[in-house]
Amino acid sequence: MTRVLYLIACAAGPTQYIDDGVRAAQATGWDVCLILTPSAAAWWEPRMQELVDLTGHPVRSRYKLPWEQDQLPKADAMLVAPMSCTTLNKWGAGIADTLAIGLPSEGVHMGVRVASMPYFNQAQAAQPAVGASIAALRKQGVMVLDGPGGYQPHPPKQGDPKAFPWRQALDRLDA
Ligand SMILES: Cc1cc2nc3c(=O)[nH]c(=O)nc-3n(C[C@H](O)[C@H](O)[C@H](O)COP(=O)(O)O)c2cc1C
Repeated sequence: MTRVLYLIACAAGPTQYIDDGVRAAQATGWDVCLILTPSAAAWWEPRMQELVDLTGHPVRSRYKLPWEQDQLPKADAMLVAPMSCTTLNKWGAGIADTLAIGLPSEGVHMGVRVASMPYFNQAQAAQPAVGASIAALRKQGVMVLDGPGGYQPHPPKQGDPKAFPWRQALDRLDA
């Protein structure tokens, strides 16, 4: 049976190319459901239908209303990538004010495999909250793919969002 991956993307550079991430995951056999933060959804708003067509699922970016049904199949795994500095720090502090944080923050405590790969620059990474948030997520069982073998923060203004290592993140999720 095809496994379901929730690919959860924030408003960080590589999300401009989130279709690359979807295709990379599909190529390794995942049925991909895409969840965007509200900020990331604004980036894709004019082209959202492309993502719906690509995944074959609604693209979700907001919590459902109390009377609405679930629109997506149950997840076998979740990958938060690219994870923004903002989402990392909110999640680390237990703030789940976006569906993009709510799903993995509960999922990891319900037996779902959850990984995240950050994408932000060294100036953002220098905030003391960043290390504390990564430690808080790891303590809960989230695989945070930063540093060697994951994503290393780039110097400010020198990112290469098109080259985000989707395949590496997917391989680590499956390892
Ligand atoms: C064009 C643009 C690119 C951005 N790139 C990044 C990025 O690569 N990493 C990051 O952490 N924040 C980046 N930001 C800032 C985030 O979008 C901002 O912190 C936002 O609140 C993140 O919210 P979200 O995590 O809910 O998507 C960028 C903002 C803009 C306008």
